[in-house]
Amino acid sequence: MTETVTVRVPAKVNVQLAVGGARPDGFHDLANVFLAVGLYDEVTVTAADRLSVTCSGPDADQVPLDATNLAARAAIELGRRYGVDPHVHIHIAKDIPVAGGMAGGSADGAGALLACDTLWGTNASREELLDICAELGSDVPFSLVGGAALGLGRGERLRALDVGGTFHWVFAMAGRGLSTPAVFREFDRMNEGVRIPEPVASQELLDALAKGDAAALAAAVSNDLQPAALSLFPELAETLAAGRAAGALVALVSGSGPTTAFLARDPESAAKVAEALSATGTCRTVRTASGAVPGATVLGH
Ligand code: C5P
Repeated sequence: MTETVTVRVPAKVNVQLAVGGARPDGFHDLANVFLAVGLYDEVTVTAADRLSVTCSGPDADQVPLDATNLAARAAIELGRRYGVDPHVHIHIAKDIPVAGGMAGGSADGAGALLACDTLWGTNASREELLDICAELGSDVPFSLVGGAALGLGRGERLRALDVGGTFHWVFAMAGRGLSTPAVFREFDRMNEGVRIPEPVASQELLDALAKGDAAALAAAVSNDLQPAALSLFPELAETLAAGRAAGALVALVSGSGPTTAFLARDPESAAKVAEALSATGTCRTVRTASGAVPGATVLGH
């Protein structure tokens, strides 16, 4: 019997994040265009006599190891649906920044779900896995499917998108995290009394993705959460300006932030932008990564 399964799961950047008004359930309707990029967490599950979680990597001390961890919740929920005791040890080798707006926690949820499904041989259908993902969080279904997708509803109703080329990105991780609910609350505060239009995907943006045209994508990206993230974390403006000055085609906050994302023309330009951002001393770490890449993938076991 298989005793250990490892799943690799990518981070995401939102190339469009259109946000509607707050719904009665507190969530916001979104038109959320996700692109999976090559920064990965690896989630390993091993049969054990109880559920436990460990984490390694530079941000490991910020990761909760109790049942609030999305990886633990994924194991519990799959086990509940199939009558399996979720007695696994989950190890997360974390490379995606924590509380960074790159879906790191969501990646671990999707990764643990696929790993447990493989370990236990539960063979849940894609639909059932996606249903569990949506229960875990708005961004978790995308972590499972990867590539590029438009997320509607609270972001969990996905439609796969064509991507016609590789996009080269630089990511600057900030010195502290931002809480997603706090950024949405700030969005609500800043838009109080404003009639917010229904969020829709930009056709220019979808065309740019389909063509693999970085300049056209740069002209079309948008993030409605950016003003709220900047309001809570004003220093990010300096990082965004430094990346633009170093030749990035566009600079934006990734999701709810505070990671900032810079689209580059090609890998050489990305390396230059990364070097310039590192030199500013305003960011904790600077990484380059390309996308689109596949979603959660079982590695050899
Ligand atoms: O779904 P998830 O647990 O990732 O959402 C975290 C928080 O972000 C929610 O509790 C909510 O405050 C906010 N959110 C939202 N609208 C969305 C997605 C998330 O308001 N579509």
